[in-house]
Amino acid sequence: MKMNIGLSEKNRKTVSAALAQLLADEVALYIATRGAHWNVVGPNFGPLHSFFESQYEALDDILDDVAERMRALGAPAPASVGAYAKAKSIDDGAGNEAGAAKMIESLLKAHEAIIRNLRKYADLADDAEDSASEDFLVSLIEQHEKMAWMLRAHLQ
Ligand SMILES: [Fe+2]
Repeated sequence: MKMNIGLSEKNRKTVSAALAQLLADEVALYIATRGAHWNVVGPNFGPLHSFFESQYEALDDILDDVAERMRALGAPAPASVGAYAKAKSIDDGAGNEAGAAKMIESLLKAHEAIIRNLRKYADLADDAEDSASEDFLVSLIEQHEKMAWMLRAHLQ
């Protein structure tokens, strides 16, 4: 059945394309954070292992919401490693870095890259008159900024 939610197909597709890009980056960051959880070593292993777990759990919720927002706009949600690898824009090597500080710094940079992208995507949703996606994307800025703060605090 044809969708009739007051948004043109063109605008829904524009926002969905941004969400697909975001989904790839959220998945990439989720896996990188799991990698940090798995591979971290050193005297702070216990707290860092748990800290990374709390962060990848938050990212799991976020990426699910992004995919389901795409579905609500009528777009299919990409769901293969190949599609994510092609679409991702962030550097996702954090889980393979040697040393906790380097892992944390890499994760922080990835969050900051996603935050910068989110600002553009929220403007794009605004231009497409999709206020619900704009609101959702702005809420993700806040969540990523909070996670970035927690990472940054480890480096000070
Ligand atoms: Fe685990």
